[in-house]
Amino acid sequence: MLTERVKEIFQEIEQFEVATKEQLEQYRQRFVGRKGVVEALFEGLKDIAKEERRAVGQELNALKNFAIDRFAVIQAEFEANDSGTAGPSVDLTLPVTPNQLGSIHPLTLARAKIIEIFERMGFSVADGPEIESDWYNFTALNFPENHPAREMQDTFFVAKNAEDPTQDMLLRTHTSNVQIRMMERQKPPIRAIMPGRVYRNEAISARAHCFFHQVEGLYIDKNVSFKDLKDTLYHFSKEMFDKDVKIRLRPSFFPFTEPSAEIDIWLGTDTEETYRLSKGTGWVEIAGSGMVDPNVLANCGIDPEEYTGFAFGMGIERIAQLRYGVRDLRLYSENDVRFLRQFEGV
Ligand code: DAH
Repeated sequence: MLTERVKEIFQEIEQFEVATKEQLEQYRQRFVGRKGVVEALFEGLKDIAKEERRAVGQELNALKNFAIDRFAVIQAEFEANDSGTAGPSVDLTLPVTPNQLGSIHPLTLARAKIIEIFERMGFSVADGPEIESDWYNFTALNFPENHPAREMQDTFFVAKNAEDPTQDMLLRTHTSNVQIRMMERQKPPIRAIMPGRVYRNEAISARAHCFFHQVEGLYIDKNVSFKDLKDTLYHFSKEMFDKDVKIRLRPSFFPFTEPSAEIDIWLGTDTEETYRLSKGTGWVEIAGSGMVDPNVLANCGIDPEEYTGFAFGMGIERIAQLRYGVRDLRLYSENDVRFLRQFEGV
């Protein structure tokens, strides 16, 4: 009985609101004063069996001390506070609570950095549709009908067009479609990059995904040479990775460029990570590139006798992987906060 009452009063003390001096006085009378509820409990002690009296007495003393201590704390707050109302006192020595900041997604970080580097070289940023016709994704880019290069990029088709296969609708497999759209729209000189999402019908694993991101680059003008391509991508690599970076251009094939080259950067094989990434060669591919094929220029109404140009395309996931050490492509789209939090403040 008595023990229960003690518990009740403990609670009552904790919940008793003291915001004004009047309430403080009420508190004093009720819990600390000689006519208060706590004192009254001591009266009851004499009716308690002898064996229990000691234990119950201790409980009562604890309650009494609790009431007195709390009174002292609140009273001190009133004294410290000129307005005469109690408020939590501010302890200036406490460590600050850190703000919970969000983080920028590593693909957004990598894309922003890529854009920044090319903007400084005078490239503008352009955009294009993700649902695209065969014409813009393949045919205008000099992919002949039934050419095996179409199958290199497993395509998600949205709608087939029985009359005109160049009007089949699909999810773009690369950002190269935006090249065509730009060249149709704008007369040279053209100097733009085109970041965006692309889709391929691939099984999802650590190394492949059914969607990912690319940045396309295009530079068309009079007398644009292969050397311009090389200088541009070399400068980009230095800015992106390290001023001492080594790059190499490896002959390759794309239907829309001639000649074509893949750009590798040198990682070395010193660590397990670089060995694995470069499959033991020390080199890792960062982009495809080449001189825009004259057929492509002609398809867009640009005279290949007058203008030349280079183009390139790179994967943003790959760049982010190299910059931030992301090992598994799936992490980029799973929204696991344990992954995302690592980019706080980056
Ligand atoms: N479209 C190519 C791909 O997805 C990448 C690429 C290669 C883009 C060479 C280009 C280029 O503009 O010139 O694999």
